Amino acid sequence: ERSAKQKMLEAYSQVAQMYHYVLTSTPYGTEAVKYLQKRGFSQQTIKEFQLGFAPDSWDFITQFLKRRQFDLEQMVEAGLLAKNEGGRIFDRFRGRVMFPIHNSQGEVIAFGGRALDGGHPKYLNSPESILFNKSATLFNLHRARASIRRRKQAILFEGYVDVISAWQAGFSQVVATLGTALNEQQARIIRRNAEQVTICYDGDSAGQEATAKAIQVLHQAGCTVRIAPLPQGMDPDDYLKQHGAEAFSQQVLLQAMPVTAFRLKHLRGNRVLNDETDQARFIQEALLIISELDSPVERDLYERQLAEDFGLSLDAIKSEARKVYKQQK
Ligand code: GTP
Ligand code: MN
Ligand code: MN
Ligand code: MN
Ligand code: MN
Repeated sequence: ERSAKQKMLEAYSQVAQMYHYVLTSTPYGTEAVKYLQKRGFSQQTIKEFQLGFAPDSWDFITQFLKRRQFDLEQMVEAGLLAKNEGGRIFDRFRGRVMFPIHNSQGEVIAFGGRALDGGHPKYLNSPESILFNKSATLFNLHRARASIRRRKQAILFEGYVDVISAWQAGFSQVVATLGTALNEQQARIIRRNAEQVTICYDGDSAGQEATAKAIQVLHQAGCTVRIAPLPQGMDPDDYLKQHGAEAFSQQVLLQAMPVTAFRLKHLRGNRVLNDETDQARFIQEALLIISELDSPVERDLYERQLAEDFGLSLDAIKSEARKVYKQQK
C-alpha cells in the first residue's frame, strides 16, 4: 500500500493533465484559451507550463477522481476537492485557469487558479497539505534552478504570470513566491543556488513595501540584493507585453540598483523639499541609511552624490555625516 503522499502526488499529476486537456482539447477550454492568447501566452508556453482549465462544474474533478478510485476524503485534504458543512464533497476549482505549482523535483504539489476577467477572488490556491508547504516553495524553481546556478543570480517576482511571461521572453533564472511575503526558508533555498538576487516586484506601493521586507529577509540569508525598477503601475508581465524582452533587459534588469540606492530613492519618494528645514531633515535621514554601509568607499560615493544633488560642499555633508554616524553608535 502506498503512502498518502504518493497517492496525492499521483492525483495532482493526473488532475494537472486533465485540466490541461480540458483547456487545449475541449470546447470547455475555448474561452480560457482566448483569455490566455489575449494575454500573449503562446501555445508552446501553455504546453510547457502545463496550464489548464477547471470547468465551471461542481463535480467534474470529483467524478474524475472517483472513477480512478481515489479516496475523496484524502483528495479534500490534498486540496483538490472541498467539503461543505453538510459533508458534501465538491470541486474546489471551478471556472479557473490553472497554474500547476511544482516542488523542486518537478512534481505537481498544488495549483494556483485564476478567475477569468472579473471573477473573485482573482486567485485561488491549493491549501497547504502534506505535499504543499507554501513557505518552502518557489514557483518555477525546478525549471529555473540550473540557470540560476549558471548565472549565479536569481530574479524574484511577485506573480506566477510574471514568471511565465519572463520565461517566454527568454529569461530563465526566474522564480516567484506564492502570494505571500518572501520568508526565511525561501530565502535560504535561493541562497543555496545563488548569492545574487534581483528583486523585481510590481511597480506599486504594495510592491515597494514587499521589496523592503524581502531585502531584509534576503540579507539575513546572506544574499546580495539588487532592485530592478518598474514604472509606476506596471508589473513585469505588463512591462514585457508592452515593451518587449530587449527593453526589459536594458531598462529594467540592467538598471537594477543596490539596496542603498533603492532605499534612498524610496526615502525621497514624492517628498517635496520646499525649504532648508525639509532639505536638512531629508539629508539627515539619507545619511542614516548611508551610515549602515560597512564600506567607507561606498559611504563616500553616496555622500558625494548627496552633496551634488543638493548643491552642497562635500565638507558640509561630511561634517553632517559625522554627527549622524556618532548618534548611530
Ligand atoms: P494578473 O492579474 O493575472 O496579471 O496576476 P498578477 O501576478 O499580476 O497578480 P497580483 O500582482 O495581483 O498578485 C501577485 C501574486 O499574489 C499572484 O501571483 C498570486 O500568487 C497572489 N494573489 C493575487 N491576488 C490574490 C488573491 O486574490 N488570492 C490569493 N490567494 N493570492 C493572490
Ligand atoms: Mn492583487
Ligand atoms: Mn500587485
Ligand atoms: Mn502583478
Ligand atoms: Mn499582472
